[in-house]
Amino acid sequence: MRYKIAVLPGDGIGIEIVPEAVKALEAIASRFGHQFEFTEALVGGAAYDAVGHPLPEETLALCKSSDAVLLGAIGGPEYDELPVHLRPEVGALLPLRKRLALFANLRPCILFPGLLQASTIKEEVIKGVDIMVIRELTGGLYFGNKSREKTPQGGETATDVLSYSTLEIERIVRLAYEVAGKRRKQLCSVDKANVLESSRLWRETVSRLEKEYPQVKTTHMYVDNCSMQLIRDPRQFDVIVTENMFGDILTDEASMLTGSIGMLPSASIGGEVGLYEPSHGSAPDIAGQNKANPLATILSAAMMLRYSFNLDQEAELIEKAVNKALEEGYRTGDLLACSDSEQPVKLLGTKEMGDIIAQKILQL
Ligand code: IPM
Ligand code: MG
Repeated sequence: MRYKIAVLPGDGIGIEIVPEAVKALEAIASRFGHQFEFTEALVGGAAYDAVGHPLPEETLALCKSSDAVLLGAIGGPEYDELPVHLRPEVGALLPLRKRLALFANLRPCILFPGLLQASTIKEEVIKGVDIMVIRELTGGLYFGNKSREKTPQGGETATDVLSYSTLEIERIVRLAYEVAGKRRKQLCSVDKANVLESSRLWRETVSRLEKEYPQVKTTHMYVDNCSMQLIRDPRQFDVIVTENMFGDILTDEASMLTGSIGMLPSASIGGEVGLYEPSHGSAPDIAGQNKANPLATILSAAMMLRYSFNLDQEAELIEKAVNKALEEGYRTGDLLACSDSEQPVKLLGTKEMGDIIAQKILQL
């Protein structure tokens, strides 16, 4: 089969990790006889520097005419002082998500057995962790009206509106039920219904839809409690569904259950074209040094195969290759934080880790 993939490396470590995911996809192509046609385009600070806007129309057009999008990371300190609509986050990433109608962001938090000792959390707590966090991606605070007003006393008032419609909640919750139905059949809906009106509508909507999915066990949890439970006993969770900002925060937290945020891939789906990106940022502190962990991006490419192209076997092979490399002790620096594993650890750079994974894809 032939697939068109838009490749947007972006900024910082994005430029280093994306080619490693492309390498993995090329290995898949040669092993299974697929054809992946990669077309690169600018996004984020790189696009602002080149053409004066973080999301050029050509980039958006390329994404729309592709079968899937592979994104690295965007942003950097040099863009933080730009007018807000030109900043990589607000000017590129959020409009990209919105204009491609990607309302669902899937972030699987899986502890690869080889990384049991890489997490800062005790082994007996995280052993076997396999959680799918489903984050609503095109609503809530991120996209509500924003304003600033001077107050008569001096100073200002800043406002961000948090709103959700029944339709927005229904479609993400239905998707979460579908996913939960194919897993361990437990859905935990996370909200702050004791305080927020939007959360009360969220909870009512989940309670109504629950009856349509009797095979899935539904629970509700407040977000503050959830952030504690994720560390206390993460294995109680199968699928978590939550609104945009809660999902952003909880997935950074949950990433530590897997050893490093460098292990957390993501799939943004719901529109015609899926977008696949690691959950981490552009890490300007280590950019350009061949230090970044490419595995979250490589695992995002696996999600592309699964969710956009229905190539489950190919996706599993990438995941197997990652698992094997970790079992054999290959590590990037972020995975060494707490490493006193018995296995001798082999510290690799970004490129070398990408090479190992591609090699394993061809050999396993
Ligand atoms: C993420 C990131 C983004 C977000 C930033 C870069 C705008 O943190 O994908 O989790 O908040 O959604
Ligand atoms: Mg985030």
